[in-house]
Amino acid sequence: MASDMIGKAQDILRLNDRGTYTVPTAGLYPFQWNWDSCLSALGLAQLDEARAWTEIDTLFAHQWDDGMVPHIVFHQPDDGYFPGPDIWRTGRAIPTTGITQPPVAAFCVRRLFDRAADRDMAAKRARALLPKIHAWHQWFFRCRDPEGTGLVAILHPWESGRDNSVDWDAALDRVPVEGVEPFTRRDTLHANPAHRPTQAQYERFIWLVQCFRDLGWDNTKLHAASPFKMVDPGFNAILIRSCSDLGDLAEDLGAPEIAAQSRAFAARGIDAMDALWSNEAGQYLCHDRAIGALVDSPSVGGLIAAFAPVPPARASAIAARIATLGEAVNFLVPSHDPSVPEFDALRYWRGPAWLIVNYLIADGLSKSGEQEIVERIVRDSVRLIEASGFAEYYDPITAEPCGGGQFTWTAAMVLEFLTERAAAP
Ligand code: DGY
Repeated sequence: MASDMIGKAQDILRLNDRGTYTVPTAGLYPFQWNWDSCLSALGLAQLDEARAWTEIDTLFAHQWDDGMVPHIVFHQPDDGYFPGPDIWRTGRAIPTTGITQPPVAAFCVRRLFDRAADRDMAAKRARALLPKIHAWHQWFFRCRDPEGTGLVAILHPWESGRDNSVDWDAALDRVPVEGVEPFTRRDTLHANPAHRPTQAQYERFIWLVQCFRDLGWDNTKLHAASPFKMVDPGFNAILIRSCSDLGDLAEDLGAPEIAAQSRAFAARGIDAMDALWSNEAGQYLCHDRAIGALVDSPSVGGLIAAFAPVPPARASAIAARIATLGEAVNFLVPSHDPSVPEFDALRYWRGPAWLIVNYLIADGLSKSGEQEIVERIVRDSVRLIEASGFAEYYDPITAEPCGGGQFTWTAAMVLEFLTERAAAP
């Protein structure tokens, strides 16, 4: 059974391989996505280590001069996706979007490096990536934390990866829609519209794109200008963990300055994260930097926080909170608390379970010694695949498969759960 599942996961990685990058799934997402690509490289490494490194090299070949690594690289034209390069107009020879995505690259590179059978190749390729990834991390703290708080803001829901989370509802209400150019969505041709963000959300997504485009995608201006400025604990935890992992990698590879600055970023971030903790919610919450207030929204963003080296008491509280959520759903981890009215079991990031989220949370909690809940998360992840195949996300109560099918990072995470964990000491 497990070997059958492993074989199917490998087939999906091959199916979505475009030679030097993978697409998340044909049709719905026909280009290279930033965090999809990095996490998928963990699975690719099982097929071909060199190919896994190439996945990340390809992404960083499209890094901007200021250090930003874009959320989509439009390698070849495809009318099946909206918004395409004609909307973003970032002026790059090979078009990219002008926003970023959760910075999992350093975490993934460290993991590829630690596991590599070909040590020479791994050292060579990781060493070449080090300064590029570090430049991205520096970009975050320079452009997305201009006041030096230790935490960065996302300026667009798409940057979080959790596009239509309930976390953004109130902030998006403050984003105007006047002046949004008429558009035709394509996502709803490929996926069930009931699984996708609403039209009202898309209008605000596009307003923000137009706003940043009008500023010439100048990252020295975007943070001040954006009406949407959100400090997401999940996003920051990923950045903090990546800084910490880059610090270790840089030390191993003889780059002490990168090591020292990365560790300083991570330490400062962990201290600052504590201001996002809510005793009432029993988890971390988002901070809306535009209005200076915590967002009372019990989403999985506050649980992904466990991916960072948070204090043990915080990790235990998150484990307890996930156990409580587990009483309301059959498959952990729901992307929103099922007990609140905004929960929607089918709609993208408003309730469904995602394997990559399960992986990040399980990894963090495992490091914190929360083995019992980790085992449940892993078990539920595998049960979702058994029940419904390699979907983009799943109803956490019925396991109904949602969004796109034959999904690359879902397949990669299955390989992680089944193969790497089994191989772990
Ligand atoms: C989409 O198009 O739905 C993506 O999530 C944006 O990155």
